[in-house]
Amino acid sequence: MKNHLTPFSSSHPLTRMISSSSAGTEPALDSLAKRMTSDSYVVFLTGAGVSAESGVPTFRSSDGLWKKFKPEELANFNAFIKNPVLVQSWYRHRTEIVENVKPNRGHFAMAEIESKVDKFAVITQNVDNLHQRAGCEEVIELHGNIFRSYCIDCKEQFDVQLFSENGEPIICRCGGLVRPDVVWFGEMLPIDAFRLAEKHARKCDLFISVGTSGVVYPAAGLSSLAKSSGAFLAEINTEPTELSSIMDVTFQGKSGEILPELISLLES
Ligand code: OAD
Repeated sequence: MKNHLTPFSSSHPLTRMISSSSAGTEPALDSLAKRMTSDSYVVFLTGAGVSAESGVPTFRSSDGLWKKFKPEELANFNAFIKNPVLVQSWYRHRTEIVENVKPNRGHFAMAEIESKVDKFAVITQNVDNLHQRAGCEEVIELHGNIFRSYCIDCKEQFDVQLFSENGEPIICRCGGLVRPDVVWFGEMLPIDAFRLAEKHARKCDLFISVGTSGVVYPAAGLSSLAKSSGAFLAEINTEPTELSSIMDVTFQGKSGEILPELISLLES
């Protein structure tokens, strides 16, 4: 399913790029707020950028994880089989980061929006549990969750990330290797989660992409699915992305600043 949708042109006529620092932000944000009424169906697609202000590194920003580490050595099944201890310790490191951070104003704003509209979902590529910790109830995890693991042989699930204490790989009681319950490159997304995400994208009125570079499919393709199904598309990101060209409106800035501003406009 990877890359099953065509990349978008970078010059779609409907795009309006609005910087959060420019004087023109508020009218556009106000108009987005007016679309968000108590009977709206609002869907967020989120990526690593929403957790950046909590202190979780992104993947592709200038100081992102994939600038320092190679995905093919850490985030694929063959790498895990070759060196399970290395991959397990990389996930231990990332788990320790996300255990020690808190949801930020962007996460809380999304949870507040959930309480104000009729139908709502956050479709996230993040594995960090921060949407749930902020109080969001309808969270669809497309790339798994770093706080779970499972045995690659008998598939027994563990509701914790298991760590090696002695430099040996973590082994299930059946003898199989235990891996993090996250989606690696080349793997299928959890089918039920992805079907549900597609359903939300097809049915929503407002589809808001926040803090994702929009380069990893099939998650990135949900935006065009929402658009072709009639949703209004907005993006909040500190930089232009691969998805900006299909957006109806784009806000350039931090999600932890723009989303609370959106909430204040909802309330006025
Ligand atoms: P990326 O690291 O690719 O993109 C993060 C995006 O967040 C960038 O477009 C940044 O400009 C933006 N950003 C950074 N700080 C922000 C802020 N405070 N507010 C708003 N936007 C901000 O992360 P993802 O798009 O989530 O998959 O990456 C998708 C997938 O690629 C991940 O789930 C992971 C990765 O490899 C796997 O590991 C399978």
